[in-house]
Amino acid sequence: MTEPTGFPAERTAVITGAASERGIGKATARRLASEGWAVAVVDVAVTDAERAAEEISARYDVPAVGVGADVADPESVNEAFTTIERELPPVVGLANIAGISSPTAFMDTAVEEWDRVLAINLRGAFIVTQRALHGMIDRRLGRIVSISSISAQRGGGTYSKVAYSASKAGLLGFTRAVAREVGEFGITVNAVAPGPVDTDIMGGTLTEDRKQAMSAGGMLGRVGTADEIAALITYLLGPDAGYITAATYDINGGIQVS
Ligand SMILES: NC(=O)c1ccc[n+]([C@@H]2O[C@H](COP(=O)([O-])OP(=O)(O)OC[C@H]3O[C@@H](n4cnc5c(N)ncnc54)[C@H](O)[C@@H]3O)[C@@H](O)[C@H]2O)c1
Repeated sequence: MTEPTGFPAERTAVITGAASERGIGKATARRLASEGWAVAVVDVAVTDAERAAEEISARYDVPAVGVGADVADPESVNEAFTTIERELPPVVGLANIAGISSPTAFMDTAVEEWDRVLAINLRGAFIVTQRALHGMIDRRLGRIVSISSISAQRGGGTYSKVAYSASKAGLLGFTRAVAREVGEFGITVNAVAPGPVDTDIMGGTLTEDRKQAMSAGGMLGRVGTADEIAALITYLLGPDAGYITAATYDINGGIQVS
């Protein structure tokens, strides 16, 4: 049986995909830092990751490092974690946010595109989560959140199509199955499934027309913001969320009711 565990004051959250300026990852890194977390910004865009960490450290007065890594590559992820574990407090939180879109119709999807989308969106979460879990299991404390999508639940129907939807649906099974194996160590594993959010992943800033089309049929009549997704992820990584595991949190303005 796992007892509620004390949350250390000095703790690190690793956020993958946190370098892009208008992205969900960076908003999450900022939010976590504002709540006192040390943050590790892990992104394939190394210069942007370093710059994001510097900016966050200066603004919120917390330790932060930015490291370049391709989440689909185990060696580069291992190197990134070696740096993080050397320079920052123990890793308590992990947000798997790195991802790519795939707007190609199924019958036009080449095997190479399929493999690339699955490699970054799903294999990446496997590699990063497994690497992070070593320390979490040793310390008997961890919180992991992976970012799925409304696309997993609705079967596409958004900008991205089948490969993306399959990768994001895979993350839901991944989340529940990992949660089952690590609960005994005091580690929670959850997923969030956002609806459309105005970031750069869908080919640049969304026009008002695109936003309206994407939120059509939703109860709130608008797309979401990166800060709204960041707030939910921050809660799920935080001290008050210790009894939530294997859950998928919809955050979609009522576009999809699961
Ligand atoms: N924006 C939306 O509408 C929406 C909705 C649901 C889910 N999501 C998911 O949210 C996550 C963040 O997306 P976003 O909208 O902020 O887009 P974004 O493009 O701003 O952010 C994605 C980040 O991932 C990084 N990245 C890409 N490939 C990587 C790799 N191989 N290794 C490490 N980092 C890599 C990018 O450099 C970028 O910083 C994605 O997983 C996306 O699928 C987005």
